[in-house]
Amino acid sequence: MVRSSFILTKFASIVILGSMILFLDPQVSAQNKIQLSIDTAKPGPKIDRNIFGQFAEHLGYGVYEGIWVGSDSKTPNTRGIRNDVVAALKALKVPNVRWPGGCFADEYHWRKGIGSRAVTLNPNWGGVVEPNTFGTHEFMDFIDQIGSQAYLSINVGSGTPQEAAEWLEYLTTPLPTTLQKERAANGHPAPYQIPMLGIGNESWDCGGNMTPEYYLRQLTIYSRFVRNFNPAQQGDQQMMKIAVGPGGGEARWTEWTDTIMKAWEKRQWSWDMQGLSMHNYTVINWGNKFASVGFGEKEYSQILKETLKMEDLVTRHAAIMDKYDPEKKIALVVDEWGSWYAPLPGSNPGFLVQQNSMRDAILAALNLNVFARHAERVRGANIAQMINVLQAMIMTDKEKMVLTPTYHVFKMYVPFQDATLIPVTFNAGTYTNGDITLPGVDAIAAKDTSGKLWLELTNVDPTNAVEIEVSLTGSNANSATGETLTASKVDSVNTFDAPDAVKPRRVSARAQNGKLTIKLDPKSVSVVSIS
Ligand code: AHR
Repeated sequence: MVRSSFILTKFASIVILGSMILFLDPQVSAQNKIQLSIDTAKPGPKIDRNIFGQFAEHLGYGVYEGIWVGSDSKTPNTRGIRNDVVAALKALKVPNVRWPGGCFADEYHWRKGIGSRAVTLNPNWGGVVEPNTFGTHEFMDFIDQIGSQAYLSINVGSGTPQEAAEWLEYLTTPLPTTLQKERAANGHPAPYQIPMLGIGNESWDCGGNMTPEYYLRQLTIYSRFVRNFNPAQQGDQQMMKIAVGPGGGEARWTEWTDTIMKAWEKRQWSWDMQGLSMHNYTVINWGNKFASVGFGEKEYSQILKETLKMEDLVTRHAAIMDKYDPEKKIALVVDEWGSWYAPLPGSNPGFLVQQNSMRDAILAALNLNVFARHAERVRGANIAQMINVLQAMIMTDKEKMVLTPTYHVFKMYVPFQDATLIPVTFNAGTYTNGDITLPGVDAIAAKDTSGKLWLELTNVDPTNAVEIEVSLTGSNANSATGETLTASKVDSVNTFDAPDAVKPRRVSARAQNGKLTIKLDPKSVSVVSIS
């Protein structure tokens, strides 16, 4: 994708655009003008780049076809991994990829995916044959090709502590053990780095239907024996062990978080964890899910209302964590989130194939902003999923590939990776549809590692444009450069035939007397740098 940008200096704005936008744009009424101030004197916490993590499960076409085509494929590839997908993902600077699941991880036996492969089954997802041609080495090659890092999910459901411990020894030891020699014989003498390790997945459900107490026993055992031996990952650089955490809004999840955190506070030297996972999908009725295409404003507002529950969920579980961990040593890692709609007609229902629309772009921005505002506690998140599954970045069909609206949002947010959160003050206004009223606008600001100031603005209202008048405390705002993502309809999508229906374009901004005015189109996500 070619990025276009628009820089407007203070002087140019007065002469060229001065009042043009105001008088020529009938969509912006007096009520739709919002003052927003950015307080650069009060920097907040770092927005951990790991909140922009991805999730690639052996599910439908997520791995096979989406990532792996095999070296004999006519789809251009490097060692079996498709080049078009790698190039697109590189641009997102994906910080980590969670793999191999999901529920798939709860039944995954790593030895079947190294050396001569065992052909097994994937009972969770469509009951199809699992060839295991994409295994440990192929995954590590993939994340290396896209410039990312590994977040491995180990099998606590049907595996054993010994199996998981041996996987980590195989991956990380530099010493000449039998497992190290086997790794070298399989092409990788040097130890791999594994920065993140999930100890189980949804152990309360597909991961083994465990009670919080039973899972806690598993956690302490796995945490004790599954070690990372890579010398580069000791001390400060140690691998983050992430425990299974809550799975949504029901009351039972309070008990789960409480049980794990209370035990952690009283832990002995022999076990530890650095993260607690949380899963939360945007879905309204599991039995009769919403469609991902062909919907109107009613479903748009219903889904956005549902997704905003993420704020309350994070707040509630962060408060429980604060009770036992006031220093916020344990990260909350929302390692499965995103929209979950009905499978596309004609697709295998076990493959979770859905389209990705402008609604999903807004949904992604709203959730990323929740995570950023909770940056002190939320230090990881993984959208579900990366390719061809649920709220995907990319969709493929044989050698064709298309980037989704959600992909564009993740690309626009790259400057927020490891940036410092800067407080913004604004009156969000409201957007109402029927009996649903939502905040009309959302925004976050941050300074990137080079000191550049960035502002993200989401206009939730699908019909009315908004003008944001931005002021900086302590300095003037002289210019804005940036992109906006919008579309003609709430359900606009990119397809293989029309891949650019939803695509970023330059943002409309002007500067005057130390203030910036940025026009937000209806249903849009904008990111600008301000100087
Ligand atoms: O992302 C699809 C599935 O949703 C995952 O496998 C599981 O962890 C969750 O229930």
